[in-house]
Amino acid sequence: MQPGDLDRVHALETELFPEDAWPRTMFDEELAHPTRRYWVITRDREVVAYAGMMCIPPVGDVQTIAVAAEHEGNGLGSALLRVLHEAAVDAGATEMMLEVRADNPRAQALYRRFGYRHIHTRAHYYGPGHDALIMRCELLPAGRDERSADGRTIHEHR
Ligand SMILES: CC(C)(COP(=O)(O)OP(=O)(O)OC[C@H]1O[C@@H](n2cnc3c(N)ncnc32)[C@H](O)[C@@H]1OP(=O)(O)O)[C@@H](O)C(=O)NCCC(=O)NCCS
Repeated sequence: MQPGDLDRVHALETELFPEDAWPRTMFDEELAHPTRRYWVITRDREVVAYAGMMCIPPVGDVQTIAVAAEHEGNGLGSALLRVLHEAAVDAGATEMMLEVRADNPRAQALYRRFGYRHIHTRAHYYGPGHDALIMRCELLPAGRDERSADGRTIHEHR
């Protein structure tokens, strides 16, 4: 992800997280922060998905992951999560943590498939009545796989 991606990234952010979208300045700060890394997936030069992590070994945190609605269910979320895990392992992390809304079963299904387990609930984390599940996954050094499969490209800018 680079600063030039942020118009499109922030437009997706407001669509995909209508109740708790990050302000654009948050992305500026995240991109500038040395412990953060962000990626986008593009199709025909347009950003269709993005994700980022914080990594302070031995722990990585999934900061965000999002796929444009018309591209859901095609493996892009999985591809991004795989890239985050690989980068975290490369940086020396042995575990990954994340927060997910309790009312977001689709994201939870993705995380469970990657080995995340629910370890804690933060009540009202996203506002009254909207809890966060804290999920954790042990990272195993593993072979790399289809980072750029299916004609898509995943870009990082550092
Ligand atoms: C959650 C999200 C990132 C998943 O991305 P995706 O590209 O659709 O995910 P994938 O295609 O890689 O699918 C991964 C798994 O998610 C689940 N999933 C995907 N589409 C689904 C659907 N329509 N209904 C239910 N589960 C679904 C499935 O478990 C799927 O695995 P499987 O198809 O192999 O069984 C995407 O739906 C999204 O951006 N949602 C809005 C933003 C959001 O909630 N982000 C997460 C914040 S914590």
